[in-house]
Amino acid sequence: MSAPQTLAEPAKVSLFQPITLGARTFKNRLWLSPMCQYSAEDGVPGQWHLVHLGARAKGGFGLIFAEATAISPEARISLGDTGLWNDRQEQAWANIVDFVHERGTKIGIQLSHAGRKASLRTPWDAEPGALPVEEGGWTTLSASPIAFPGSPEPSQATGAQLEGIVDDFASSAVRARGAGFDVVEIQAGHGFLLHSFLSPLSNERTDQYGGSLRNRAKLLLDVVEAVKEVLGPTGPSLFVRLSATDWLEHGLTVHDTADVSAWLRERGVDLVDVSSGGLLPADIPLGPGYQVPLAQHIAAKADVPVAAVGLITSPQEAEEIVASGTADAVFVGRAGLADPGFGLRAAHELGHQPAEQLWQKQYVRAIWK
Ligand SMILES: Cc1cc2nc3c(=O)[nH]c(=O)nc-3n(C[C@H](O)[C@H](O)[C@H](O)COP(=O)(O)O)c2cc1C
Repeated sequence: MSAPQTLAEPAKVSLFQPITLGARTFKNRLWLSPMCQYSAEDGVPGQWHLVHLGARAKGGFGLIFAEATAISPEARISLGDTGLWNDRQEQAWANIVDFVHERGTKIGIQLSHAGRKASLRTPWDAEPGALPVEEGGWTTLSASPIAFPGSPEPSQATGAQLEGIVDDFASSAVRARGAGFDVVEIQAGHGFLLHSFLSPLSNERTDQYGGSLRNRAKLLLDVVEAVKEVLGPTGPSLFVRLSATDWLEHGLTVHDTADVSAWLRERGVDLVDVSSGGLLPADIPLGPGYQVPLAQHIAAKADVPVAAVGLITSPQEAEEIVASGTADAVFVGRAGLADPGFGLRAAHELGHQPAEQLWQKQYVRAIWK
């Protein structure tokens, strides 16, 4: 007599289960979020970046991200931003990528144009804020000539300038592939140029880049198409970071970003990285995992892999988000600044692998007891 049929348990996904996105497989779903270091010279990443990213490459993350990296000199937030528009920068990034790969970890780069949030002093400057022209500042570009509070009025980007920006994103993506990055992420959130087009609060254009949501998304979609083409089917995976909501009346909503995410999926984007805010000051309901429901909504409506980010500070919270199927992966930011070995600790605390097998041999005596 054959054994009674039982329903198969659905396979439980865990934080430490690999995931394939595009042509790359990541050994786990706990990733380091992109974080600006404002420590480059002429856009070239230096020893700071090697040590900062190198330490985290040994920290148990399945993927670490280099910071928002400018596609052109004017795209920088500050003069300390990293860039990827010339050979020197590409070579410097390639050295860092090699080190990270030797540690068995994948590395992505976030390509960015800061738009009306460009030309700032570094955050730790005695007088932070707009960088005056006399000190090397420049006139910023945005969808419409509407200033970010505290910054000078940007100029409205012309059609020719926008075509140039699409080309700049594509050229930087070619260099990212050349440097060996595993992922290219387009920064389309946090109030930067592409977000300034998406949000009706900063885009008052009446041309093909303004008006309907589809028109406001045109620049982002043009960038994605151009970047996808140069990355090719075997190149780095393609992610897009979106601010899912402006948290403001008449601003961009999670329903809008779900529509945009579906258009991104149709163009071959492998994952949407769901952040929020940054367009204008807003009352944000900060709290543990406060952006996770936004990622969940986008995944459900746009049928696209998503990563959650924002105040996810413990391995247990990260595991719960992935195991419940709420998001496909989790980015940690500040917790990964505070603890370069956050991923190792997570694997240890979640019982994934004994710490002795995870730690670098040089550090084994420091294992948490
Ligand atoms: C120092 C610092 C620099 C950041 N730079 C970037 C950046 O380059 N690109 C980006 O998309 N987000 C940036 N962020 C936002 C983080 O990637 C992350 O989304 C945010 O800190 C929320 O995650 P957390 O609560 O885990 O820190 C930065 C955050 C910090 C603290």
